[in-house]
Amino acid sequence: MNLILLGPPGAGKGTQAKFLVDKYKIPQISTGDILRHAVKERSELGLRAQAFMDAGALVPDDLVVSIIRDRLTWPDASAGFILDGFPRTVAQADALAVMLTASGKDIDHVLSIVVAEDELVERVVGRLTCKGCGRGYHRKFDPPKNDAVCDACSAELYQREDDREETMRSRLQAYAAQTAPLVEYYAAKGLLRTVNGIGSIQNIQASIVSVLEG
Ligand code: AP5
Ligand code: MG
Repeated sequence: MNLILLGPPGAGKGTQAKFLVDKYKIPQISTGDILRHAVKERSELGLRAQAFMDAGALVPDDLVVSIIRDRLTWPDASAGFILDGFPRTVAQADALAVMLTASGKDIDHVLSIVVAEDELVERVVGRLTCKGCGRGYHRKFDPPKNDAVCDACSAELYQREDDREETMRSRLQAYAAQTAPLVEYYAAKGLLRTVNGIGSIQNIQASIVSVLEG
């Protein structure tokens, strides 16, 4: 199954992707995680991306498209993949379509997770992220068993640099201006499946499964 998770910052893409990885045994490909890793390593990609990320703006299309072009050739993506946070612009979506056609693949579903803006800000401002496996927690809504470390891999938890309220507002603006048009883009192709992203994490998991398998 080849999936795209679409939704604003804080919608629950990463949270639901971890569940889908376990359920369908296909990899999560998160451009945000790949970029944060590159920033931490101070690689050339990281050095080019950091200022955009810190400002809550999108990284240029050519950089993220080349990340995905490479990542989709890894053997673990041959039986399917979950794209989390890509594509984010119409140009990225067009580039993805070209690369999938060239490799004889298709998108099966585009899951759009819908959450109101006020809740998105509260989620992101309270988020804790694992330095090891990237799993997200929330101080109030999804707390780790132990405040400082990840339940899954015991690595340290931290607050993402771009999770301050002011930066979050810029990310929401970038979403509205550059990413929201993809809802219509994929609806027109008959691929859009909409899921209500408000409610318990488990209930949303169940709605996603019924959309994918129903
Ligand atoms: P990226 O890492 O993709 O961030 P994002 O899209 O802004 O999304 P988030 O990771 O913030 O939210 P999420 O939907 O994954 O929510 P989560 O599950 O963690 O991108 C970061 C930056 O990288 C971008 O700003 C850009 O600069 C760059 N970038 C990345 N991809 C790019 C691209 N393709 N093109 C250009 N630039 C790109 O949940 C959030 C919180 O809510 C957590 O605390 C979680 O525990 C909690 N939560 C989840 N579900 C629920 C629920 N049902 N109820 C209550 N709380 C919940
Ligand atoms: Mg995420």
